[in-house]
Amino acid sequence: MNDIFTNCKLKNGFGPSVQQTAAAPSPTKRPLSPDHPNPALPITETPSPAMSRMGWALRTLLVADNSSCLKDRKVSGKLIRKCAPGTELVDWLVNLAPIVHTRAQAAGMWQALVEEGVLTHVNKEQPFKDKCFLYRFRLDEEGGAPAVGIPQAEDQHAANEHIREALSALFQRGPDATLRMILRKPSHERTSEELELVFEELVHIAALSHLSTSIKRELSSIFVFEAHAQAGTILFNQGDEGRSWYILLKGSVDVVIHGKGTVATLKTGDDFGKLALINDAPRAATIVLKENNCHLLRVDKEHFNRILRDVEANTLRLQEHGKDVLVLERVAKQRGQHSAFKYTVMSGTPAKMLEHLLETRLGQSVGGMDPFLDDFLLTHIVFMPVVQLVDELANYFHCDTHEDAQTPEDREYIVNFKKRVIQFMQKWVMAVRHAAFEEPSVCDFIEDLAAEVEADPDLNEETSIVHNVLTQMARYQEDRNQNAGQKWKLPPNGQPICLFSGNATPSKTVIRPDDDIIFRVYCADHTYCTLRFPMHTTAELIKACAADKLQLNRGPEDLCLVEVRSNGERSVFKDNDVSIPTGLSLNGRLFVSVKDHLDALTQLQEQECPTEGVDIDLEILSTKELAYHITLFEWDLFYAVHEYELLYHTFGRHHFGKITANLDVFLRRFNEVQYWIVTELVSTPSLSKRVGLVRKFIKLAAYCKEYQNLNAFFAVVMGLSNMAVSRLQQTWEKIPSKFRKIFQEFEALIDPSRNHRAYRVFVGKLQPPLIPFMPLLLKDMTFAHEGNKTSLDGLVNFEKMHMMAQTMRTIRFCRSRSLGLEPPSPKSEGEVRSYISSFRVIDNQRVLTAMSQKVEPTRKL
Ligand code: CMP
Repeated sequence: MNDIFTNCKLKNGFGPSVQQTAAAPSPTKRPLSPDHPNPALPITETPSPAMSRMGWALRTLLVADNSSCLKDRKVSGKLIRKCAPGTELVDWLVNLAPIVHTRAQAAGMWQALVEEGVLTHVNKEQPFKDKCFLYRFRLDEEGGAPAVGIPQAEDQHAANEHIREALSALFQRGPDATLRMILRKPSHERTSEELELVFEELVHIAALSHLSTSIKRELSSIFVFEAHAQAGTILFNQGDEGRSWYILLKGSVDVVIHGKGTVATLKTGDDFGKLALINDAPRAATIVLKENNCHLLRVDKEHFNRILRDVEANTLRLQEHGKDVLVLERVAKQRGQHSAFKYTVMSGTPAKMLEHLLETRLGQSVGGMDPFLDDFLLTHIVFMPVVQLVDELANYFHCDTHEDAQTPEDREYIVNFKKRVIQFMQKWVMAVRHAAFEEPSVCDFIEDLAAEVEADPDLNEETSIVHNVLTQMARYQEDRNQNAGQKWKLPPNGQPICLFSGNATPSKTVIRPDDDIIFRVYCADHTYCTLRFPMHTTAELIKACAADKLQLNRGPEDLCLVEVRSNGERSVFKDNDVSIPTGLSLNGRLFVSVKDHLDALTQLQEQECPTEGVDIDLEILSTKELAYHITLFEWDLFYAVHEYELLYHTFGRHHFGKITANLDVFLRRFNEVQYWIVTELVSTPSLSKRVGLVRKFIKLAAYCKEYQNLNAFFAVVMGLSNMAVSRLQQTWEKIPSKFRKIFQEFEALIDPSRNHRAYRVFVGKLQPPLIPFMPLLLKDMTFAHEGNKTSLDGLVNFEKMHMMAQTMRTIRFCRSRSLGLEPPSPKSEGEVRSYISSFRVIDNQRVLTAMSQKVEPTRKL
């Protein structure tokens, strides 16, 4: 990429010929006035040799003809030499050539001569018409032909010969010339027969094949024909406002992009220029004519918006060097926007998507976040690592470094682009917050950016944006320094405990990759070692260190790190997995084992027992207070989860080498609450106490719902629906019907059928702050991941990224307002707080069911 930028000729990467054309038009260039085409004027700068010769031959025969219509005539008092009315020229041609059957055919042939300037209307006001308008040959106009006298016999002979050979070529050009003539007339001057003629032609143009007949008919009256004589002419520049859409009828054009040069060549039948109109964005490329005499059909913006914008083709593909680089698809727009449709990115190369973003989604409004930009910022880590993104941005920002001479237009373009890069940075920080500052390359880039913005008077307005980003970065770094050396301990069960934190409010502590965590690793005989490692340490390193400490005397290739759950299930970690201790299940234990002896691993006895917790009589605690403190506690856990953790979790932490510790802890908490409910109930022998507890837990679910802590609500209701609880018939029989009804409503709300429809409808009506049911968000992420490929034909499947970003945005929405719950009576605050932060839990279903059997043996029938 650096090379491309270094080689960039800022004048759109054009070669010298283009620059020359752009800067100084050739002196012979005759303005063809494409904006206001005039069918009376030629479409070429000079006649082609074939048409010149044809003109000479026809004139020679006309002059030789005794009854010639070519006469000197007086027009408005002025003598015009050798001119003839259109009607007589048509008569003469019909008589001359047996292939010409109709007057219209003859008129078309004369028009073919008019459009190359071989024949002209005497006042240059009319195209060729089978009417009494006077026309004359260019030869007579320029005085290049003998004014009087009959042509020599040999000339007549040569002219006759030429006509015999070449007339059919002129005959064939007639219909096209007529068509071009119609397309250069203002639409109100086009007759219905002429519109029919145009319509019949449009049917054969590939770029229009997807359009309906009625739209093609409408287009017949508004298409404008444009001819450009000179190769190298710039039709429009990248960054210009989009005014028209084009179809190439003849010739070819180069698509040129700043910093890249020519990325594609478009040929006859291709169309271009739609992107800017559809997206209301500046031109994404410069279009340069590759050949002389290119013919184009043009639709101007107002007509495009009226007729085409909403019926455009569903898919738009942009190519560079013969390969697709961006695929856009038409989607319905939100209400209130001035068109029903717009194009959105379906897939693309990372670099092209970034370019498209910078060109189309930034620069216009500094306000809200564009959805495509937001999707990109939330998911780019999947397809474009931060280092690459920073590299690309730096290249865009420094694209002028190697340029000496810059025109004012170039400078304007460059300054504009720099502004976009700065805005991108601002939105990046806004979208992902501190995660943007975690890479040193980003911080370096921001500092560079700030220095350059300060030094560049053109970027004055951007200084405040950059300062704002710098302030946020400084705050992040300060916070990071303050919390450096954070230390955690993973108790045998429950949540990791923060042993040391620089944070004044330890409950708000985020687990960071270089925080240390203390945990145990067991081996098959249940001896263990205690290790302390940073959170981002790989399984491979933990394995090696544990094996050493436990004196396993085996090479790392023979060993693996395994979790043994409380039910005896084992799962092996990948060597490059990170945040291992937090990833364990509630009562799981970490083992290092010889690969071949995995079967010998058994769970520890303590794993089947309840985890340690504060011993308290639940009955005396206020249920509302319980719900309140559970919600505060879980809000902090939820708040610490970064949206990126969902991506790491879904794609696999090992792909990114990034920890998911905060998400792990939050998910662990869900299971903790759920199994706490079950554990409490099955370990309460007294029936009346159990009944009291079930009532309390139903009330707890109700309060959690009221506090919009849906994660805890689900956990409590799922705990109550657990098989070990639902089978407690005697208990449920004693629950008042009012409570049972409420519980049934709760069960309906967590009903997973129709993809959790009941919950989705319910939560869709809530306003933040709220704690969502996290497992469902993860299910949505997994669904999007497993159901869609990340890469399609070598392009990033951005539709998938969009789906994932939608879920990640849900998290952002839930936290978009801070939690400000009214505290219930604070009488036993400290006690409740320490109780809810670590519950007594058994998470082995077999053990729970056995305990349930014990408190309420199955009734014999
Ligand atoms: P627009 O942005 O309106 O103007 C430039 C046009 O070039 C653009 O629409 C596309 O129609 C066309 N084009 C073709 N290939 C590319 C490409 N690779 N990148 C950008 N524009 C392209």
